[in-house]
Amino acid sequence: MSLSQPHGGKLQQLVNVNYNYSAVFQTVELDKMGLSDLELIGNGAYSPLTGFLGKEDYESVVQNMRLADGTVWSIPITLPVSPDIAEVLKIGEKIKLTYDGIVYGILELTEKFSPDKTVEAEKVYGTTDLEHPGVNKLFSRGITYLGGPITLVKIPPKDKFQSYYLTPAETREEFQKRGWKTVVGFQTRNPVHRAHEYIQKSALEIVDGLFLNPLVGETKSDDIPADVRMESYEVLLENYYPLDRVFLAVFPAAMRYAGPREAIFHALVRKNYGCTHFIVGRDHAGVGNYYGTYDAQLIFRHFTELELGITPLFFEHSFFCSKCGNMTSTKTCPHDKEDHIILSGTKVREMLRSGQVPPPEFSRYEVVQVLIKGMKVTV
Ligand code: ADX
Repeated sequence: MSLSQPHGGKLQQLVNVNYNYSAVFQTVELDKMGLSDLELIGNGAYSPLTGFLGKEDYESVVQNMRLADGTVWSIPITLPVSPDIAEVLKIGEKIKLTYDGIVYGILELTEKFSPDKTVEAEKVYGTTDLEHPGVNKLFSRGITYLGGPITLVKIPPKDKFQSYYLTPAETREEFQKRGWKTVVGFQTRNPVHRAHEYIQKSALEIVDGLFLNPLVGETKSDDIPADVRMESYEVLLENYYPLDRVFLAVFPAAMRYAGPREAIFHALVRKNYGCTHFIVGRDHAGVGNYYGTYDAQLIFRHFTELELGITPLFFEHSFFCSKCGNMTSTKTCPHDKEDHIILSGTKVREMLRSGQVPPPEFSRYEVVQVLIKGMKVTV
C-alpha cells in the first residue's frame, strides 16, 4: 500500500512566481474566499481542478456532485463578480486576480455565466435559508461567475504559523519521510476536545499516521479564531500525542458549512494531501440543525470507494461516560444520557467567555487554559 494517488490522477502544480503579467491589464479583486480558493487550486489541493469552474462543470457539480467528465466533486469552486465588472472582460483575455490590490493570480477567461443561486443553495446546502452562513455567503457574492484556468503567481503571505502551511506536495513528502503508508486526515474548525481526541486516536490505532489538518480560512464570526486554536493544538500534541505519529498542518480553505457535500469535498482534498483515510464523525461541517447527525456519512454511499480513492472512517457521537469511566460513543456505550458529559460548541464558547472551565472529561486542562487566555477571559 502507498499514499493515495491525487484525485483525477495528477497533482496539479499551477504556481509560477516568475510569471510576467506586464501586458495583462484587466483586474478582478478577489474576496477572502476567492483568494483561498485560488491558492488551493494553484497548489494542487483542489486537483483535478485547474481553475474556476465553467458552466458545464458548475452545473454538473451542483446537480450530480461530479465534474462534467464524471469525476466526483461536490462543491462548486466559482469566481463570482458583479455584472458590471464582468461586462468589460472579454472571453480569451487574461485577467489579474488581486487581493488588497496585490496580484496573486492570472485567470485565462474562458467563460462568463449567470448561475441560478437558488438551485445552487438547495442542492449544495440543502436550504435557501439566509440564516445558514454558507447560503448567506453564497448570496452575498457577485451574480456572474467567471470560469477559466488560473496560474498562482504569488503565494498569499502568512502572518502567523508560517511553518504549518504546507502544500499537498510537501505533506506527501513529509508522510513519505516518516515512512507512513496509511494516513488518516482529520478536518476541524474547532479546538480539539476529548471527543475529537478519542476518534482521532481510535483511527490512529489502525493506520500509520494522523494528519491533523485544521481549517484556518474564513469561518463564521462566532467560531474560535484560528490563531487561538493553533496554540491549543500545539499544547494538546505536546502533552497527549505520540509526536512521531501525528503531523499538524493547516488547511487554508474557507468553511462553507455545507455538511454532507463538504464532507465529500474535505475527503477529496485530504486525499490530495496524501491521506488514505478520512474521519467523518457526527454532523461533519454542519451548522445549526440543517443536517441530520449522520447525513455527512450517508452521502458517501453515492460513490464507490474506487472513485473516491480515500477510505472514510465513520464515528458515531462520542463523549465521556461516567458509568463506563472512559470516552465512548453511542455505538459502544450502553448507559443513559444522564451519564454522558456532552456540551455543545455554543455552550463551551459561552463557558469560556464567562470564565467557566469545561470539565476535564470534556476538554484537556492545557487546551482550556489556552482557549481562556485566547478569548481574553480571566478565570
Ligand atoms: S467541522 O465543521 O470541521 O466538521 P468539528 O471541528 O466540530 O467541525 O469536527 C471535526 C470532526 O470531528 C468532524 O468529522 C466531526 O464530525 C467530528 N466530531 C466532532 N465532535 C464529535 C463528537 N462529539 N463525536 C463524534 N464526532 C465528532
